[in-house]
Amino acid sequence: MSKIRAAITAIDAWVPEFVLSNLELEKMVDTNDEWIMARTGIKERRILKGIGLGTSDMAVHAVMGICEKRGISPKEIDMLICATVTPDMQFPATANVICDKIGATHAFGYDLNAACSGFIYALATASKFIETGAYKKIVVVGADKMSSIIDYTDRATCIIFGDGAGAVLLEPSEDGVGIIDSILRSDGSGRHYLHQKAGGSVKPASHETVDAREHYVYQEGKPVFKFAVMGMAGVSEEIMKKNNLKAEDVAWLVPHQANKRIIDATAERMGLGPEKVMLNIERYGNTTNGTIPLCLWEWEKQLKKGDNIILSAFGGGFTWGAIYLKWAYNTN
Ligand code: UT7
Repeated sequence: MSKIRAAITAIDAWVPEFVLSNLELEKMVDTNDEWIMARTGIKERRILKGIGLGTSDMAVHAVMGICEKRGISPKEIDMLICATVTPDMQFPATANVICDKIGATHAFGYDLNAACSGFIYALATASKFIETGAYKKIVVVGADKMSSIIDYTDRATCIIFGDGAGAVLLEPSEDGVGIIDSILRSDGSGRHYLHQKAGGSVKPASHETVDAREHYVYQEGKPVFKFAVMGMAGVSEEIMKKNNLKAEDVAWLVPHQANKRIIDATAERMGLGPEKVMLNIERYGNTTNGTIPLCLWEWEKQLKKGDNIILSAFGGGFTWGAIYLKWAYNTN
């Protein structure tokens, strides 16, 4: 009997309607469209508007979408992992909230926080539950309402991030397709460069932390950029070598969308031309855990069964990693 692998059998995603363009940002902070495009490749990003709406509300659209596409009821879902850094609340897990909202009454779920690498970590984790035969239908969601933790007076961070959600369904396959390998890495000594200072157990929320604007993303862009290039390019090349893949064997690179220059450096290191790189940062910015499923969703119709695909990410922590998978289906 051939090995059981976890195959992505459905993908869907959702972004809010409201568009925050570079031109709008020019009115809010001292920046300009040319600088943002040249330094990041971002033109606009989506923002979730509406009181009482959070990460779970975006995720629900994406998860219901995959159920519809696959023709299954949410009750058939065994397990749901939500990768996010902007949970609806500190606890309970947003995964539990999503399951409740969609009526996934037979599923258990939890959140996974690995910053921008969360979706890849969650996919690798979920694949093990499939490979062991423990579960048959697992949903992995990557969703973030980054606008809830962005300081729109800080030009160094507010230009980068946006809101969005994507989800995939994993099911067992003995067809040779599915998730073949993963390399996951982390280095906590990098935590100082990218984090949220207050609101955790070390520095609980207080008047002082709010006044000091410590509930927003803090990022030292330059060092993060340097480590991101090294990490993402390094691990992407490493997973190719480990699996004897040459550039011509790889159909697609699906990179985390943090900065076009990081993506270009990664593709170059892998020997891939731009025609093999999924890139939608221009329209959505960095949606943190949403970036990779948002790409797969937009490119779904171009993917062919058996395509070799490399997913690759780098994020706060630091965390980084790559996944090698063979696409499992053709879309008509
Ligand atoms: O997804 C999680 C991981 N995160 C990342 O991968 C992000 C990695 N870092 C980056 O993408 C880049 O570092 C940024 C896009 C955040 C910044 O680009 P940079 O080329 O590293 O710029 P910088 O921070 O070195 O700033 C260069 C100059 C500075 O001015 P001076 O000191 O040279 O006069 C900044 O003050 O650009 C200035 N600057 C801006 N100018 C116009 C910073 N932000 C802006 C802005 N508009 N929005």
